[in-house]
Amino acid sequence: MDKLVIEGGVRLKGMVKISGAKNAVLPILSAVLLTEEPCIIRNVPDLRDVHLMLRILRFLGVGAEFDKGKVTVCAKNIKSYTAPYNLVSKMRASFALLGPLLGRLNKAKVSLPGGCVIGLRPVDLHIKGLKRLNVDIDIVGGYVNARTKQLKGGYIYLGGEFGSSVLATANVMMAAVKASGTTIIDSAACEPELVDLANFLKEMGAQIKGEGTPTITIEGVKALKGVEYKVIPDRIEAGTFIVASAITKGDITICGAILQHLAALIDKLEEAGIVVEKTDSSLRIRRKREFKPVNITTLPYPGFPTDMQAQFMSLLSVTPGVSVITEKIYPDRFMHVAELNRMGAHIQKEGPHAIIEGVRKLQAAPVMASDLRASAALVLAGLAASGKTEVSRIYHLDRGYEKIEEKFQKLGARVWREKEA
Ligand code: UD1
Repeated sequence: MDKLVIEGGVRLKGMVKISGAKNAVLPILSAVLLTEEPCIIRNVPDLRDVHLMLRILRFLGVGAEFDKGKVTVCAKNIKSYTAPYNLVSKMRASFALLGPLLGRLNKAKVSLPGGCVIGLRPVDLHIKGLKRLNVDIDIVGGYVNARTKQLKGGYIYLGGEFGSSVLATANVMMAAVKASGTTIIDSAACEPELVDLANFLKEMGAQIKGEGTPTITIEGVKALKGVEYKVIPDRIEAGTFIVASAITKGDITICGAILQHLAALIDKLEEAGIVVEKTDSSLRIRRKREFKPVNITTLPYPGFPTDMQAQFMSLLSVTPGVSVITEKIYPDRFMHVAELNRMGAHIQKEGPHAIIEGVRKLQAAPVMASDLRASAALVLAGLAASGKTEVSRIYHLDRGYEKIEEKFQKLGARVWREKEA
């Protein structure tokens, strides 16, 4: 296993180009099952999760090649409708194979993904939504067995206790594009990655309206065609570099991100006193003065993203004054608190809230990553800390950040990868 070693204290400067969005490409790759024709997907980040998804597709019989950001896939001959536990348990996003397998074969057997360190993560909304499309579902031996004679459109209210669900909306949408009649999904997720999936499906010939709003209307079609498609940039990767600039008192220009996707984050940065210069194609983040504490609450898009909560906490831990973070999507997503405290942060967890009393400086320490975004938060803390921080278990980072240490090195960071003893 690898660890990342960071000698903190460097002000990061320069330009970073944002890669394709992990959370957009994963459902898009599962959607290729809906057509027999070949598809080409561009701007695909070179990530562990992407390679795992390609592995699962190959297991199902799909031809899939990755070459420098371009994926060529062809699902002409599907030889299995089962996504097994040993693969699905490694990556929750593969549960989004359920909808397209149903859309293509009228049957699917997909392992339940199980919980993870950020919380329970149920799948009730996925099941409820697909049942409304005339699918019979039983859960036996840890697998979701889904079958239908014919998918039929219907009205689905898909809101849950914690608001909308990104992958449940994706699953239902990918089945509904092949259902007979009209499907209306109310309380649908509005995340940009879901809009990207809808755009991909529309290019394939699907009839979808209202994506990006809480009400999506889908008219089922008989067949979908192969297409070439470019994935949107990763707003969470962009957000992570934005925070890297702020936390190191640096001057980073972020290229290729979509500004609108970062609105909630930028709003909070500006409230905290960080200068964000915007052009059509770039964002420059500079710190002119001392930061002010801010409160954030994570919410479904366009609210503040839960996937930026941990990274923002690192920034607030060195912001003078008291800030409060409220986690409304995953109330247990605070595994990074204890590790940040090991680096000298003063953070107290109270239920779904973290109360952060800013300190002047963080100190380097050996820390352990528990999930993808928590790992990113520890790297950011390490970049700001004095001394040498070692972040272990960085396979989490490789799941979701393309060439992370190279990108940081180009900005001047002293960061490298070592084998763990
Ligand atoms: C996606 C993202 C993940 C992000 C999350 C929230 C991908 C691959 N992953 O995950 O990075 O953190 O959105 O923005 O796109 N819920 C239920 N029942 C369900 C499904 C979800 O109660 O059937 C709850 C969840 O526990 C959570 C909330 O709904 O509290 C939102 O989760 P959801 O949007 O489904 O997350 P994912 O789509 O799995």
